[in-house]
Amino acid sequence: MPDRRILVTSALPYANGHIHLGHLVEYIQTDIFVRFQKLRGHRAIYLCADDTHGTAIMIRAKAEGRSEHDLISGMREAHLADFAGFQIAFDHYGSTDSPANRTLCGEIWQALRDRGLVVSRDVQQLFDPQAGVFLADRFVRGTCPKCSAADQYGDSCEQCGATYSPADLVNPVSTLSGATPEVRSAEHLFVTIETLHSFLETWTTSSGALDPRIANYLAGHFLGEPLRDWDVSRPAPYFGFEIPDKPGHYWYVWFDAPIGYIAATSEWCVAHGESLAAWWHRGGGNDPPAEIHHFIGKDITYFHTLFWPAMLEAAGLALPTKVRIHGFLTVNGQKMSKSRGTFLMARTYLDHLDPAALRYYYAAKLSGGIDDIDLNLEEFAAKVNADLVGKVVNLASRTARWLETTGLATTYPDDGGLFARAAADGAEIAAAYEQCDFARAMRAIMLAADRANAYVDAEQPWKLAKAGAAAAEKLQQVASVALNLFRQITVYLAPVLPRLAEQVGDLIGGPIRSWDESQQPLVGLPVGPFQPLMRRVEATQLEALLAAAATQPPSPATLPPQGTATMTESATDSGEPLAAEPLAPECTIDDFTKVDLRVARIIAAEEVPEARKLLKLTVSLGGDATRTVFAGIKGFHEPAALIGRLVVVVANLAPRQMKFGLSEGMVVAASGAGSPGVFLLSPDSGALPGMRLH
Ligand code: 2FM
Ligand code: ZN
Repeated sequence: MPDRRILVTSALPYANGHIHLGHLVEYIQTDIFVRFQKLRGHRAIYLCADDTHGTAIMIRAKAEGRSEHDLISGMREAHLADFAGFQIAFDHYGSTDSPANRTLCGEIWQALRDRGLVVSRDVQQLFDPQAGVFLADRFVRGTCPKCSAADQYGDSCEQCGATYSPADLVNPVSTLSGATPEVRSAEHLFVTIETLHSFLETWTTSSGALDPRIANYLAGHFLGEPLRDWDVSRPAPYFGFEIPDKPGHYWYVWFDAPIGYIAATSEWCVAHGESLAAWWHRGGGNDPPAEIHHFIGKDITYFHTLFWPAMLEAAGLALPTKVRIHGFLTVNGQKMSKSRGTFLMARTYLDHLDPAALRYYYAAKLSGGIDDIDLNLEEFAAKVNADLVGKVVNLASRTARWLETTGLATTYPDDGGLFARAAADGAEIAAAYEQCDFARAMRAIMLAADRANAYVDAEQPWKLAKAGAAAAEKLQQVASVALNLFRQITVYLAPVLPRLAEQVGDLIGGPIRSWDESQQPLVGLPVGPFQPLMRRVEATQLEALLAAAATQPPSPATLPPQGTATMTESATDSGEPLAAEPLAPECTIDDFTKVDLRVARIIAAEEVPEARKLLKLTVSLGGDATRTVFAGIKGFHEPAALIGRLVVVVANLAPRQMKFGLSEGMVVAASGAGSPGVFLLSPDSGALPGMRLH
């Protein structure tokens, strides 16, 4: 197949709020897809923009005593900083408030007019006489006209499920000013999309753009009856584009928002000397035609699968190749909630945790369907630690240093077929990425990592290293295999973990540019100094994240420059633990060296049912040396989440017979009077079991 040209979009985020972890499901998903396509050698462009118009922005600007333009430019900076923090790499990020969008809205509007699809009708709408604005449904509350439940929204009742017109609400109140709204009649313009009914029936079912389940949903809910005219205008005052042939009236935000996809493309084309026609015009002499993929959440299915294709069809523009619809995010099984302290903003996450961890976790959960995905924080830590730190990074951290002086072996050693097997897996992994079944791709990649680790465990390079010159060649071979398997895995993970891919390029073989690099091992190249690649997710980081989320103030529309992590109050050094437990009497360096502190890996962990505080841990000091230790950390750490992590142990402590067995050491942990937990110590990534603390 000739190289594909793939235009990809995520839904345009509203400019009236900050990015949160729910939004990021979509941006991370789209970014992974685009990076994958680029890695495969296709021409992919990732376009997005701020969605800036509408009543909500107008009201917020008014409440903050500033202009809408000021508000949206501040929010744009904040959005871009959050996206950059999560390594979301747009090729262009526009704004629906741009000249390009205004022009395109005008052109598409004219096409709708020319086809006779625009009609005008008077609409009864609630008007807030105090705020001087027509009220969108969500700005009115009152008593349900069907079941009399109090305090319901303007369009539907949460108690009985009835839907109605805001004018039917009993005792309506404007949530903007508290005033009683008046019913006013205003002229609105509508697009008669029923004219395109049969086109939409065919497109939704036969174009291949939609999952058949979505097509069935649309057939059952909308296309089974005549389509209602779509109300696309709002009378002044409104923040948006004034309709050129209808002064005093503005395009409704949902008219100009999707056109923002085309406007962003147009701006990108101008910057790159490309023609817009080559991406959005039908035919346009393109062979093959450009593909258009929209990633959206399930709540805006209706706009993207009925109105949007109808507009494109009417205007004679290219139709979406795929509308890829995902579910919502829950946190610990429930909807994100400010009152539960689980409304997690992108910025708060970045202040405490590594973006790569969330990218991987989402990838491992996303299977291309519309099911909601759950961010379970304990599982998040366990998965990232077990997979990325324990399996992937560990491969390099325990082998790279042996190649620092020799470099890779000059011919690729016999690895029992491991590299070839993982290379053959590449087709299946690529197919999973293509279908947005990232979960399947991650599972296949982790199986390859398991096989690679089993190889290292069996070859025991640490023993070869001890044997000196006699085993030097074998050591180089074993480490060369391990490092090649590691790099191969990193190529497969590059769409998800671009930063890791860059770091691996620095260690060995240069920047990863192509998927094909997974197909051939590297030989005879120098190996750079090993740098820590990724840190474990610690329970304390999650605690700090939740503490910050619980106390985060309602976000202002603009933020100070956001490139750097800020220290939150909960992380400020208070000095209290020191005051509560003053320093022990002075000791000499000789006293200190009597205590042999070593890095150890927890290889087994289980509850001691009879003991209130104890977990039974088996720790490895490297090679065959292990210790059994009873640690007073029950309740603070899940046994399963501990397996694989590095800790510090007192390795020469005299064994102590306890009621539950012999304890052969001590795991070092921090705690203090009134301490909220027991905090295990972890070395930086790169440390190995058996290393001594000095
Ligand atoms: O639902 C939303 O957040 C909208 N701002 C998405 C717009 S997507 C597109 F159509 F512009
Ligand atoms: Zn009701």
